Amino acid sequence: MERLQKVIAQAGIASRRKAERLIAEGKVTVNGKVVTELGTKVGLSDKIQVNGIPLEQEEKKYFLFYKPRGVITAVRDDKNRKVVTDFFPHVEERIYPVGRLDYDTSGLLLLSNDGEFTHLLTHPKHEMPKTYVAKVKGLPSRETLKQLEKGIQLEDGKTAPAKAKLLSADKRKNHAIVEMTIHEGRNRQVRRMFDAIGHPVVKLKRERFAFLTLHGLNAGEYRELTVHEVKRLKVLAQTGQ
Ligand code: URA
Repeated sequence: MERLQKVIAQAGIASRRKAERLIAEGKVTVNGKVVTELGTKVGLSDKIQVNGIPLEQEEKKYFLFYKPRGVITAVRDDKNRKVVTDFFPHVEERIYPVGRLDYDTSGLLLLSNDGEFTHLLTHPKHEMPKTYVAKVKGLPSRETLKQLEKGIQLEDGKTAPAKAKLLSADKRKNHAIVEMTIHEGRNRQVRRMFDAIGHPVVKLKRERFAFLTLHGLNAGEYRELTVHEVKRLKVLAQTGQ
């Protein structure tokens, strides 16, 4: 179920604010009844009309994108910097990112116009596993990496158990490559966790989201998820399997 104004906005006929105005003015009906309440929730089977014209709900789209570094996870930017949707010039649906990656982080980012799907996959309760590969300063010991696994006290609380694995260490250059899987999605979480153990991140890439990988894609490229992948993600979020 989605909020009525959001469904109208996603159908591409008005901005969210304009949709709210249309509702308040009594121009919108749901299953033949005028609805003026803004928070009204509607589902796929509800028949919505705006000014007497039936709303065509947008086809649901799901993309797996290899976000390059130096791109903002947003659909627009006040300062005109590159945003992720700039890489989808031929997609007409109003897609938006599912979660976020920092400006300087590269890697796997999902985009969709399906609000329920986005909510499901980003809700902390559903604990979707996300795997990052980080180049960090210094050479973290096994004991230090164990701290990441047990949980780190950050200013917004202790992190949930993670998995951390040393992939390689370069003594001469004094940096290491560490793979880490987390189940949360707090702001700059991976960077803050490595800061906390004294090994700041130099470079960060998200390699996997649940069972999805970047296989076959170069930075800046995307592909559509298959129907099966979408179903599997939903089941995983709902049941953990
Ligand atoms: N953690 C971070 O620190 N940055 C990201 O972009 C994603 C997770």
